[in-house]
Amino acid sequence: MSESLVCYAYTSRYRGLDPEADLASIAAAATRNNPALSLTGVLLYDAGRFVQVIEGPREGVWALQRRLLADPRHSDLAELFEVDCPERTFHQWQMKAYRVEALTPMSRPEVIALRDAYVGVFRPSARDFLALVQTYLQSRPVNP
Ligand SMILES: Cc1cc2nc3c(=O)[nH]c(=O)nc-3n(C[C@H](O)[C@H](O)[C@H](O)COP(=O)(O)O)c2cc1C
Repeated sequence: MSESLVCYAYTSRYRGLDPEADLASIAAAATRNNPALSLTGVLLYDAGRFVQVIEGPREGVWALQRRLLADPRHSDLAELFEVDCPERTFHQWQMKAYRVEALTPMSRPEVIALRDAYVGVFRPSARDFLALVQTYLQSRPVNP
């Protein structure tokens, strides 16, 4: 029996005052809750915006979406895509949180592609977007 997986990605605007503390508490919530919902993914924070990729069974993704919509730490959630996906991209990640600005500077094409995804001008295909995030993370240290 194979589970049917969806992959959801969105960008939102950070509304708090202390990104470091908020990222830590969000990462703790993800560690607490995501395994039971069988959710994996990645959370990026940079310059006042989040980009999050969430993958897992539809009901689990929707349950998290409902909580995210009610979370005052961010606003203006804009969906990048929600697609059925044959397999997980971030299968070994519960939900790693990265503070992009604290890491090695990105290459120019990475910066442009992520920035465009942030502002929603450019709509990458789900596959291209996931490949971009993966390439980006693979070239970085594993710790936030
Ligand atoms: C950008 C962002 C990403 C989040 N990602 C997750 C997540 O992956 N998993 C999770 O359980 N909560 C996440 N949260 C927190 C939820 O909105 C909510 O506060 C949390 O799930 C409540 O968990 P608790 O009832 O165990 O305290 C995120 C919040 C924000 C602002």
